Amino acid sequence: MRAAVFETFGNPAEVLRVREVPDPHPGPGEVRVRMILSPVNPSDLLVVRGQYGVLPKLPATPGFEGVGVVDELGPGLLGRMLRLEGKRVVAINSRGGNWAEYAVIPARQARPVPADIPDEQAATFFVNPASVLAMVRQILGVSRGEWLLQSAAGSTLGRMIIKLGRHDGFRTLNVVRRRAAIEELKKLGGDAVIASEDGPIDQQVRRIVGSDGVRYAVDPVGGETGTGLFRSLGTAGRLLLYGTLSGEPIQIDPRLMISGRRVVEGFWLGHWMPQRSIPSALLLFREIASLIRQHVLDSEIGPIDPLEQIAEAAQRAETVGRHGKVLVRLGPRP
Ligand SMILES: NC(=O)c1ccc[n+]([C@@H]2O[C@H](COP(=O)([O-])OP(=O)(O)OC[C@H]3O[C@@H](n4cnc5c(N)ncnc54)[C@H](OP(=O)(O)O)[C@@H]3O)[C@@H](O)[C@H]2O)c1
Repeated sequence: MRAAVFETFGNPAEVLRVREVPDPHPGPGEVRVRMILSPVNPSDLLVVRGQYGVLPKLPATPGFEGVGVVDELGPGLLGRMLRLEGKRVVAINSRGGNWAEYAVIPARQARPVPADIPDEQAATFFVNPASVLAMVRQILGVSRGEWLLQSAAGSTLGRMIIKLGRHDGFRTLNVVRRRAAIEELKKLGGDAVIASEDGPIDQQVRRIVGSDGVRYAVDPVGGETGTGLFRSLGTAGRLLLYGTLSGEPIQIDPRLMISGRRVVEGFWLGHWMPQRSIPSALLLFREIASLIRQHVLDSEIGPIDPLEQIAEAAQRAETVGRHGKVLVRLGPRP
């Protein structure tokens, strides 16, 4: 089969190549998925750069999620009991390896996807939507009328938070790095949108929500932006850090944590998800499908590149001001 392979960590546009590699076959409790589409997510590119929390042995193939059709079951009962053969599934590949014509994943991570969800949305079904519901509803529990402050608000995930705010009734205060993105996010439903280039974030935030600051914030950027979100918290405020887009650490004034009881936590879906029970994982999956149908957790889709153009796709995914998630086509839908 053909697969995107990298043999050294580095700039994805330089180290990713398409190679012929042996067809994989599933072991016990696994299934093989004939891949259709997979997104180029920031986490995939961090792996290729060697900057992700968990790194594969090299050579390796990236790709944590995507959609495809189960075409082979490994030995054992699980795949048969779940009746996966021939099903179109969301392929959650926590080891990475979906940027290939075939991927082998644990049977329990192949989730049949309802027929009315198109391939493009099925390909982006899990990583961002599940993270949004985990952070906003389950961990922070942001309630109606409350402000949620977020950075990188124009990201695919940030846009889902804005739409979930409209749906659930909480208000979003959105930080972007480019003024040009402000109007677009207001149109999408952002209650307030500010640009980090327009002055200290905490001062801008307090002008909008009042001198007390916000109770909830989520940040995938770090550096000055993450620091600005931390300084925007009110007493007992909570900041969830969930990404490293700037590659820079945030600064924390301990006085704000000690006397103000502010809390900074990290969120990683790869850690949160395995702690869910089977029924709650099934419920989460149903909730995501329903919110995709309601255009709350659907992804804006950008260009779809063939596997041969994986280096260009990676470059496109990191272009400033890009519109829509970049997808890689790995095979046709049967
Ligand atoms: N912890 C977890 O489990 C988890 C799960 C899912 C996602 N994530 C993280 O969530 C983040 C968003 O993911 P996504 O798929 O939605 O990304 P995406 O669609 O590729 O969007 C990336 C966004 O980040 C902005 N950005 C990039 N570098 C930046 C910087 N240095 N400063 C400020 N903004 C910057 C871009 O702004 P422009 O529009 O100006 O170019 C763009 O809007 C990523 O960091 C990803 O790793 C984490």
